Amino acid sequence: MVFVVALAFADAAGAQDWPWSDSSLPPVQRAQMALDQMTEQEKLSLVYGVIAAPWGGKPKPSGSIGSAGYVAGVPRLGIPALQETDAELGVSNPGDVRPGDTATAMPSDLALASTWDPEIARLQGQSVAIEARAKGFNVLLGGAANLIRDPRGGRNFEYFSEDPLLTGAMAGSMIEGVQSRHIISTIKHFALNAQETDRVVLNARIDPAATRESDLLAFEIAIERGRPGAVMCAYNQLNGSYCCENDWLLNQVLKTDWRYPFFVMSDWGAVHSTVRSAMAGLDQESGEQLDTQNFFEGPMARAIAEGELPEARLDDMARRILTSIFAHGLADKASASEPVDFAGADRTALAIAREGTVLLKNQGLLPLSADTRKIVVIGAHANLGAPSGGGSSQVMPRGGIAAKEQLGKNRAMIFDPGSPLEAIRLQFPRARVDYDDGSVAPRAAKAAADSDAVILFVDQWMTETADAPNLSLPGEQDRLVEAVTQANPRTAVVLETGGPVLMPWLAQTAAVLAAWYPGQKGGEAIAEILSGAANPSGRLPVTFPISEGQLPHPKIQGDPDGAPIGPVGRGGHYGAMFTGVYDEGAAVGYKWFVERAEPPLFPFGFGLSYTRFALSNLAVDVSGRTVTASATVRNLGDRTGAATPQFYVSGPKSANIRLRLVGWDRVELKPGEDRQVIVSIDSRLFARFDEDARKWRIQPGVYRLTAGFDSQQQELAASFELQSASLPP
Ligand code: BGC
Repeated sequence: MVFVVALAFADAAGAQDWPWSDSSLPPVQRAQMALDQMTEQEKLSLVYGVIAAPWGGKPKPSGSIGSAGYVAGVPRLGIPALQETDAELGVSNPGDVRPGDTATAMPSDLALASTWDPEIARLQGQSVAIEARAKGFNVLLGGAANLIRDPRGGRNFEYFSEDPLLTGAMAGSMIEGVQSRHIISTIKHFALNAQETDRVVLNARIDPAATRESDLLAFEIAIERGRPGAVMCAYNQLNGSYCCENDWLLNQVLKTDWRYPFFVMSDWGAVHSTVRSAMAGLDQESGEQLDTQNFFEGPMARAIAEGELPEARLDDMARRILTSIFAHGLADKASASEPVDFAGADRTALAIAREGTVLLKNQGLLPLSADTRKIVVIGAHANLGAPSGGGSSQVMPRGGIAAKEQLGKNRAMIFDPGSPLEAIRLQFPRARVDYDDGSVAPRAAKAAADSDAVILFVDQWMTETADAPNLSLPGEQDRLVEAVTQANPRTAVVLETGGPVLMPWLAQTAAVLAAWYPGQKGGEAIAEILSGAANPSGRLPVTFPISEGQLPHPKIQGDPDGAPIGPVGRGGHYGAMFTGVYDEGAAVGYKWFVERAEPPLFPFGFGLSYTRFALSNLAVDVSGRTVTASATVRNLGDRTGAATPQFYVSGPKSANIRLRLVGWDRVELKPGEDRQVIVSIDSRLFARFDEDARKWRIQPGVYRLTAGFDSQQQELAASFELQSASLPP
């Protein structure tokens, strides 16, 4: 089936008979040539899409493969249909619309971001794109660059980090990897979809300049690096206007200030108007059945006929879509079908899980001695697999679902295959390794007491459409940890969560690993780290707080039960709007903690290793606008390991820049080896945004550059002076 579909894709895209088939011409020129031949109806057919699944009593749209979305092409002119699939963490298969079709389940984006390694993000994108393309898809709804503003956010596992530079670098590289396979990647959800609670009735209120320095900067950097062929506007409103009809966001920031040349598609069910949306910069309505009506086909034709919408705007919409199609090779003769390299996908999934697992605490327990005779593995279905997050990014894992835990009528927690227990047994061939499911704390404690070491897995299910009510581990798991660690302090806790959690039991444990949702090779990665076959090198992309009281919003804003959180579809209504005020502005994550002098449980950037590193020779060089920082990092221990030296900047009083990550590198070093790390710093990171003038402004004065191994441990400092300057937006 996969083979047949791949051929169909190549055929649909393969014709060479048109002047615009000449791939040596600039994409925008090809787009104009094709556009010139189109009827109005053909243009209209490009600007809306449908859900590519049986819906409202109707069968799956003809021509669609089956997935989140489908936009009919213009076969008469060789313009391929857009076959759109979610694929943030692997190719999804919503509602099993392609019966039995599975894909490699990659670790969560939080795990990917914990590698601080853009190259591995590129490999992830490439690997997922190869699978998607073999299934016949040419648009991936992936590249989720929202900042993690709240550790309880339901989609944090699909997002990268709380920092704009780290998020931009990782998302941008992932997008670049996807698009290297002639597939459009869609950066989303633009913007400020920072919580799931009330997401379709949320008016996110935030100072525009602060947005430019935080969430928008993450998108800006990711777009510069990855050049995604599409941007998906978010469900929520931003400062009083829906993101998909927000002139400031789409026309002014994205298309004018950032000169974005491709198209804006809506999120599914995020369109509320025809003329307003089109004039504000929305180019394509997605999954139109989820809107209260199809806003972009008939109503748009009428609006043009009645002079409410200039025909030129429809041309611009279609031209942008066509430009993206041509720029990303979708209409070009498909190169020889690339065989899917499942072994390669496994290697990438394993490498991400290995490098993205963060060792948070280790009091001499890890790596576990090879002589350990009796180990008990407890909890979280660790005998079967590892948890994954819910919602549109859910992947049906290759190899089949390892376990399914029903959580209410329509919700199920899905465990990816790759049994951690079996992987641990392989790493410790001389030990007896037992399993207890952790459901009865006294029994688990007894098994712990009878063992030389305990590996205790705990989990937290997170999903699109719901935020976590709080940061505590769900159910009785905190009590389980208390009981087990009391019975045997030689316990390593493995967190399989969708974000930060509280650890009231931290002092009683000997070791803690944050493995996030580690994907279908996660069990192996965890076992390798426990045994020391792999040296942990992950670094936190998010702050772990001590308590919710430390957060900008001790309670998530809005009412989780009060309003629809998902699209409401035909005949529905969206309910009363609710205003969420993000008065923390650009002080997201560690920046908030620094500003408030709040001590975190674990700071942004933190992670331990089985070796030790030192930094020295911090130097900063300013020549004109270019600021370069360098330092020497040395491995002081007796094992090879990867260090992630990080550079941060703080500004003079006039700039009021408290602490910003401005660069890092991830370097693998043998025992005793040292390396010079050099980073060139993006000038925007020294600047504040002036919204009235629509410019970045650098305040003159003395800036401080620090270097260290996390956002708190800044061992080295240097200062440098900058002249007043302004930069284009
Ligand atoms: C999600 C998007 C997703 C789309 C299509 C929406 O509910 O917010 O991230 O791409 O559905 O599945």
